[in-house]
Amino acid sequence: MKKLMATLLASSMLLAACGGAKTTETKPADTKPSTTAAAPAAGKPKIGVTIYKYDDNFMSFVRRSIEKNNATADLLMNDSQNDQGKQNEQVDTMISKGVKSLAINLVNPQGAATIIAKAKAANIPVIFFNKEPSQADLKSYDKAWYVGTNSSESGVMMGQIIIDSWKANPAWDKNKDGKIQYVMLKGEPGHPDAEARTKFSIEAVEKAGLKVEKLEEQTGMWDSVKGKELMDAWIAKHGDKIEYVVANNDGMALGAIQSLKANGYFKNNKFMPVVAVDAIPDALTQIKEGTMVGSVLNDAKNQGQATFDLALNVANGKAPIDGTKWKLGEDKAVRVPYLAITKANIAVAEEAYK
Ligand code: BGC
Ligand code: CA
Repeated sequence: MKKLMATLLASSMLLAACGGAKTTETKPADTKPSTTAAAPAAGKPKIGVTIYKYDDNFMSFVRRSIEKNNATADLLMNDSQNDQGKQNEQVDTMISKGVKSLAINLVNPQGAATIIAKAKAANIPVIFFNKEPSQADLKSYDKAWYVGTNSSESGVMMGQIIIDSWKANPAWDKNKDGKIQYVMLKGEPGHPDAEARTKFSIEAVEKAGLKVEKLEEQTGMWDSVKGKELMDAWIAKHGDKIEYVVANNDGMALGAIQSLKANGYFKNNKFMPVVAVDAIPDALTQIKEGTMVGSVLNDAKNQGQATFDLALNVANGKAPIDGTKWKLGEDKAVRVPYLAITKANIAVAEEAYK
C-alpha cells in the first residue's frame, strides 16, 4: 500500500513536471493536514543538491550514494562545474523551484557565506558536505550543518602508513642518509582536507622519530592528469633521489603512478612507495598489485548517506539527526571516520565502495 502510494505520488509529480502544470509554491507544506489532496511535496520533498564538479573521482561516489535515495525525495542534482558563480546561480534557481532544503558541496570552501545569505533569506536549511565551511559561517545560521570527516585524522593515518612501511623496508632509503626524501602532491589549497593531510601526515612521521626532507610540494588540485604532469617534472628533476610519493588523494596518486610506470618504475627492481587518501576502487587495484603502499578510506558511501539523511530530516522540519545513526557535535558537524587501508584489510574498503 505504502509502495503504491509512493508510486502514485511519484507519477503525479512527474506528470506535473512534464505537463508544465504550475507548481504551487505555497510555503509551509509541512503544517498542512496530511489529508489534503495537494500534498505530494509533503511525502517526497524537493531537495536541492550541488556537487562542486561531477568530474571528480571521489565526489562521483558521494553523488551515487546520495542519488540512491531518490525514491524518498525529489532530488534536484547540479554539477557546479568548479565555478562558484555558477553554484550561486544554481542555488537561486533551486530556491525558486521550492526546495525544502539544500545539500551543498561548495566549489570554494570560502563560498559558504553567500550560500547561507541566500538560504537564510528564504528560510531554507542547508547541509554542507565534503568542503567544510568555517565555524564562523556555520554558526552564523541556526539552520546550517556540515557532513564530512575529521580532516586531520586522514593525515595522521597516512603518516602511520608511511612510518610502518618505511620501518619495514630499510632498502627504501636509497641514499642511506637516514631521511625520507619525499614529494607532496597537495589537493586544492585552502581546502581543509588538503591543508590537514599535507601537514599532519608529515608531522606524524616526524613525531615517530623519522627524519624527512621535502623535495617538492605543489598542488595537483585533486586531479589525476595534474598529478601525472607534476610527477613527470619531478622525476626529470630529481630522478632516483625521490624516496616517497605522498598524495592528498588517490586521483593524483594514480596520475603519479602512471608517470612512474612510464619512467621504468615497478619493474626490474625499481620501486617507489606511493601513499594517498580515499581508497577508491582504482586505488585498491594498485594496492593489490603492489604499486601503492596504502590509502586511507574516505567513506563516500556513509558521507553521502549522512548528507541525504540530514537534508531529508530538515526538509521535513525535523531535527537534523532525528531517527538516524549519526552523531552531531558541538561544531554542528557529523564526522564520518577514516580508516587506514593496506593489502591486509583491503576487503573493508572494497565493501565501502560497493
Ligand atoms: C577527497 C578528494 C576530493 C575532494 C573534493 C576530498 O575529501 O579526498 O579526492 O577531490 O574531497 O572536495
Ligand atoms: Ca634517504
